[in-house]
Amino acid sequence: MKKSSAFKYGTVVSSRYFTNRETESKHLITNFKNGIHTIIISPRRWGKSSLVEKVLEDLGKQEKNAKIVRLDLFSVKDELEFLEMFAKEVIKASSSKLDHWIAYTKEFLQSVVPSINLGVDPNNDFTLSFHLPEIEKKPDEILNLPEVIAQKKNIRFVICIDEFQNLAEFENGAYLEKKLRALWQHHKKATYCLYGSKRHMMNEIFNNSSKPFYRFGDLIPLGKIKTEDWVKYILERYKATGKFISPDVAVLIPKWMSNHSWYVQQLANFTWQQSPERSEYHHVYAALEDVINSNLPFFQKVAEDLSSTQLNLLKAIAAGEKSLNSKDTMSKYNLGTGASVTKNKKLLMEKDLIDQTPEGFEFLDPAFRLWFQKQYFNRSYESVISLPSENN
Ligand SMILES: Nc1ncnc2c1ncn2[C@@H]1O[C@H](COP(=O)(O)OP(=O)(O)OP(=O)(O)O)[C@@H](O)[C@H]1O
Ligand SMILES: [Mg+2]
Repeated sequence: MKKSSAFKYGTVVSSRYFTNRETESKHLITNFKNGIHTIIISPRRWGKSSLVEKVLEDLGKQEKNAKIVRLDLFSVKDELEFLEMFAKEVIKASSSKLDHWIAYTKEFLQSVVPSINLGVDPNNDFTLSFHLPEIEKKPDEILNLPEVIAQKKNIRFVICIDEFQNLAEFENGAYLEKKLRALWQHHKKATYCLYGSKRHMMNEIFNNSSKPFYRFGDLIPLGKIKTEDWVKYILERYKATGKFISPDVAVLIPKWMSNHSWYVQQLANFTWQQSPERSEYHHVYAALEDVINSNLPFFQKVAEDLSSTQLNLLKAIAAGEKSLNSKDTMSKYNLGTGASVTKNKKLLMEKDLIDQTPEGFEFLDPAFRLWFQKQYFNRSYESVISLPSENN
């Protein structure tokens, strides 16, 4: 048995590493089947991409007529690249046959005349290239491609776009957003699912009433997986890999990591690796130190990149201060003016370092929080984790 296979983090997870999300999966698959556009928003690494991937696998099995398009805009830098990728993936998803790809390209992309380049394995891959001046004038033909093909071929498309917020950063992002919305809102046979890792940008695109994508679809704020579900999953994975952990010990893992998906998997993995056959409290604790140590360079960089008033604001939050704009707090922590407190709150939220909840501001990254408490307040991890967990 491979040692690293008990838990998994860092990539999209599926099958045996995927757990729970039953309600969200049902919600999403119902939307996909009923043609309801969907937007998923959550802080980083809570499980958006994994959820969509899982649901698409299920959908593929349940509805043969639904053609699935997956786009990840992570490394897409401009409109041309986006349109080339969009057109290619839509055509590729519409059929499994090479001759169809060529025929559809000719039939449905008449005015933009792309050149088709076959890949190393022509039955599996090809690329389309457009000439910029032509498509800048007529992106419509490409953006309407799924709807047109779907109508003609009597199929439907589910088009999932990860890192969608990148589009807003293109040179002509604002124009493109407008264009996309204007065309896509008429699509009857193409359903869009849009999500991405930059939460503040996604909020800006979809929750700002002056923006074109405002109320484009059903907005799902993805929450955390519950403690008891994590415990069940951890017990199962231990069992499947021939080791033992009791529920009382297993529960420490989601608890200490505030149920943050990526960190729960990471801490579970380190704990599993630390332990001979049976995991006890001290294994989890040692694993916790490993988690923090392995993220240390990242935490240090985050802290270094903050201005002194931003860092001080984080300290005030870490110390549990509730009224950050009060005179006392501002002078106690050297937070600068009221205006800079307001500006810094916004900035720390945009960086996904803190989150605003009814109880006040909280750290979003549970391991960063532990590191921060130790670094700036000399509090041991043990003393911080024994406090009531702040963001469950
Ligand atoms: N349903 C799940 N079951 C088990 N682990 C999960 C689940 N969802 C997420 N994870 C864990 O969290 C990690 C991050 O998940 P994922 O990449 O899907 O999140 P994301 O919200 O898309 O992140 P980002 O905001 O960075 O794009 C995964 O590598 C995995 O370890
Ligand atoms: Mg993601």
